[in-house]
Amino acid sequence: MEFVIETILVILKMIYYWIKAIVMTFVPTSFQAKNIAGDLVLVTGAGSGIGRLLSIRFAQHGCHLVLWDINTRGNEETADLLRHLGATVSAYTVDLSKKEQIYRAAQKVKEDVGEVDILVNNAGIVTGKKLLDCPDSLIQKTMEVNTMAHFWTVKAFLPGMIERNHGHLVTVASGAGLIGVAGLADYCASKFGAVGFDESLRFELEALGKDGIHTTVVCPYYISTGMFSGVKTRFPRLLPIVTPDYATDKIMSAILCNQNVLCIPHSLYISLALKGFLPAKVGLILADFLGISHSMDEFTGRSKDE
Ligand SMILES: NC(=O)c1ccc[n+]([C@@H]2O[C@H](COP(=O)([O-])OP(=O)(O)OC[C@H]3O[C@@H](n4cnc5c(N)ncnc54)[C@H](O)[C@@H]3O)[C@@H](O)[C@H]2O)c1
Repeated sequence: MEFVIETILVILKMIYYWIKAIVMTFVPTSFQAKNIAGDLVLVTGAGSGIGRLLSIRFAQHGCHLVLWDINTRGNEETADLLRHLGATVSAYTVDLSKKEQIYRAAQKVKEDVGEVDILVNNAGIVTGKKLLDCPDSLIQKTMEVNTMAHFWTVKAFLPGMIERNHGHLVTVASGAGLIGVAGLADYCASKFGAVGFDESLRFELEALGKDGIHTTVVCPYYISTGMFSGVKTRFPRLLPIVTPDYATDKIMSAILCNQNVLCIPHSLYISLALKGFLPAKVGLILADFLGISHSMDEFTGRSKDE
């Protein structure tokens, strides 16, 4: 009897959360957004692109910022922009491929400014090389920055969040963390790792009953920040290369609404659902037709002096 009641309760809960999710897609973000003013936000890869834009948005929401990047100049430029907005900012030069540097910088952040409320694991790199052309060292670096760094930053800052049952872990992954792409084996593997890390953490926090700590994983297709310069899309309406501002607005909305998974553009949700039941060969044909399999053919990436 107990089992029957448990099963009915689970079904009712599932229906409730399903309906809630559908209804919430029609409720404007401004009605759902949480207040993050005064929160301490750490953004990795804050020296350019999405990291810089997210930092600016957080500052506009009244947050205090901690900026990490390997690129000291870019990071300081972001810090100056934020100071002009009146935000409190601390910038640190950190190489996220080095675990010891991460732990050392995390300790320094705690001593200098305190416990982090929102951790945004955004820094990322791409080699853009086919597997057999890619030096081992670059493959390892990609895994270290795009995946392993997430383990170390979360291990450093999650205990403080658990103690206060307050926090938000944001993983800037990629659509390439959901679906494999020709020419991006190392990048895809690293982003699949990041997506899996986020998903497991979400389950772990649920099991711990820490309902005040939220997770958001971000899976964009291409964004015109320069990181993927040269990439092409065959169907820009279906799979657009979005602007950094557009992507940042979507990411901010997802964070403010405690959205767990964000795909940009929406068509990625459909691709993900199709992947679940289409035979693998059909997936290959579709990826080829949609131009995904050739999107990296003219990739140049950032030039050295960018
Ligand atoms: N641009 C795209 O098309 C796209 C698409 C999907 C996902 N993403 C992801 O979004 C995130 C942001 O990308 P972006 O487009 O803003 O790229 P970007 O190159 O403008 O920014 C990445 C930042 O990470 C920093 N970084 C790189 N290696 C580092 C290291 N070892 N230690 C510390 N910092 C390091 C860089 O200095 C840079 O400031 C990345 O994780 C990327 O993989 C980007």
